[in-house]
Amino acid sequence: MALKRSSLNLFLGFLVISLIAPRSIARFVVEKNSLRVTSPDKIKGTYDSAIGNFGIPQYGGSMAGAVVYPKDNKKGCKEFDGFGISFQSKPGALPTFVLVDRGDCFFALKVWNAQKAGASAVLVADDMEEPLITMDTPAEDASSAQYIENITIPSALIEKSFSETLKKALSNGDMVNVNLDWREAVPHPDDRVEYELWTNSNDECGVKCDMLMEFVKDFRGAAQILEKGGYTQFTPHYITWYCPQAFTLSRQCKSQCINHGRYCAPDPEQDFSSGYDGKDVVLENLRQLCVFKVANETKKPWVWWDYVTDFQIRCPMKEKKYNKECADAVIKSLGLDGKKIDKCMGDPKANSDNPVLKEEQDAQVGKGTRGDVTILPTLVVNNRQYRGKLEKGAVLKALCSGFEETTEPAVCLSGDVETNECLDNNGGCWQDKIANITACRDTFRGRVCECPLVDGVQFKGDGYKNCEVSGSGRCKINNGGCWHESQDGHTFSACLDVDGGKCQCPPGFKGDGVKSCLDVDECKERKACQCPACSCKDTWGSYECSCSGDLLYMRDHDTCISKSGTEVKSAWTVVWVIFIGLAMAAGGGYLVYKHKLRSYMDSEIRAIMAQYMPLDSQAEVPNHVHEERA
Ligand SMILES: *[C@@H]1O[C@H](CO)[C@@H](O)[C@H](O)[C@H]1NC(C)=O
Ligand SMILES: *[C@@H]1O[C@H](CO)[C@@H](O)[C@H](O)[C@H]1NC(C)=O
Ligand SMILES: *[C@@H]1O[C@H](CO)[C@@H](O)[C@H](O)[C@H]1NC(C)=O
Repeated sequence: MALKRSSLNLFLGFLVISLIAPRSIARFVVEKNSLRVTSPDKIKGTYDSAIGNFGIPQYGGSMAGAVVYPKDNKKGCKEFDGFGISFQSKPGALPTFVLVDRGDCFFALKVWNAQKAGASAVLVADDMEEPLITMDTPAEDASSAQYIENITIPSALIEKSFSETLKKALSNGDMVNVNLDWREAVPHPDDRVEYELWTNSNDECGVKCDMLMEFVKDFRGAAQILEKGGYTQFTPHYITWYCPQAFTLSRQCKSQCINHGRYCAPDPEQDFSSGYDGKDVVLENLRQLCVFKVANETKKPWVWWDYVTDFQIRCPMKEKKYNKECADAVIKSLGLDGKKIDKCMGDPKANSDNPVLKEEQDAQVGKGTRGDVTILPTLVVNNRQYRGKLEKGAVLKALCSGFEETTEPAVCLSGDVETNECLDNNGGCWQDKIANITACRDTFRGRVCECPLVDGVQFKGDGYKNCEVSGSGRCKINNGGCWHESQDGHTFSACLDVDGGKCQCPPGFKGDGVKSCLDVDECKERKACQCPACSCKDTWGSYECSCSGDLLYMRDHDTCISKSGTEVKSAWTVVWVIFIGLAMAAGGGYLVYKHKLRSYMDSEIRAIMAQYMPLDSQAEVPNHVHEERA
């Protein structure tokens, strides 16, 4: 068995070498995020760091923190708890970025230990001068598999020389603040994101395969929404290897490859004598590629996600259903054209190229800014390789950061990718605690402070220090910040619902209109209702005036008149009487017209009454209804 293993490894080594060797230009691109030191001043600047291929990087966002280099357990290979070290930052303080040294254990274990001790991110200091590499997860290690899943903080490898700069500043007692920035990690040139998933149909390759399957299942919904909406163009890809020419007729090549050694995959169980062979995996990979091709031709490329998920569930290797028969059943249930798919797959025994797989091998080689694809699975967004955990929220963030700002589809602004930065101190944005209105909005790019739109009313301002309602409808929100009060079923408001409106106390009140409006005592302060027959009573926001006897109060003239209109006893009528008296004395002849004059006054008063009576009944302020005494 041991012998077999080593010969197998040798063989697999061959496969990998044969993939890489012929391409002297082959290169693996390390995806970088920028790391900016913001303090102390003397080391301020931007430095390179390489995103770890686990944990959750904040694609599209950034994160500030204070660097801590632990006194003990400098490599982070043991739990920090045992050394009495905690990285939990105090409320209001910057989160802790832990600096650990490379070496002695898996990268992922260092990050996991730091996360458990409360770190928000981990910087791993390289232990030699070399170009940065990508920190990956151990491929087959059952004990690490348990915690890798649970790593949620981002991590980055930094150069040795830079780590020494940081350590020196820390040992001088300086506070070292850095900003990890993923905003430019994915290019975002336009309103459509192109992305690829380099995947594999093998469901028995351990932790990585389990994670990949889990991801495809989880992400299907979001992927389909994005694709149907035309926001993204997704293409699945499958890595294949080829057998070196000299071995094409060997037993190994025959069991691992199709088309005479042209397209191979490693044996799923790494045991050539039992279970499935690499050849079975290549065939299913080819089928999945053809499913995509056929679905894409009918303008429904998203059916690939359905096929892959269903195949995973219905045709697992464990149940010995990983075969054509089961695959065809899935194809049929999804209404795909099985004949077209078979035709696309061609003859696996033929000693000739398969156009579909040939294309895949060509695509494996990096182009432009994208390096060769060598890690499986790999996600490529806008031609940049994604680094981090394949997890729905994290991947969605990366895709969303690939849209030109403001062209992101709604799914990018949903709960799945929120950063929840508004929960902490309202994100530093403006808020009106009383009306429960805030300018803070969580997005995948981090929080934004934007004056909100509430109940159709737009607030305007800088979003940080002030937001004010403008336009009509302002009185709907918190009464436009103006005074308002209700008493005995009557409500008064100082808000004027007009553009550029301000707070102004309504008639019957005085004050600043914002904090207070006080009732005016019209009887005393305005000298209302002061005629001899009048009696005045102040009410809230108005006053009531009544006349003695059979008299009627006329608010406009602030006087009492008799109901028939013949006798008037008020200052106004006194003037009239004097005037008439004078006129009589002067002319005498007016006596003849006295009767006519009286009837004229009669009709005049009636006209005035007719004019005002209806107004009384539709008075804005109910209290304005005057008293009428029989
Ligand atoms: C990882 O998280 C899961 C679910 O939250 C938990 O059951 C499991 O114990 C965690 N694993 C480790 C190693 O902490
Ligand atoms: C899928 O179809 C679109 C057009 O409908 C085309 O631009 C794209 O290249 C196709 N993808 C593949 C992998 O055939
Ligand atoms: C404020 O509004 C948010 C949503 O708009 C709501 O979830 C929250 O409970 C409200 N808080 C208070 C104190 O009313």
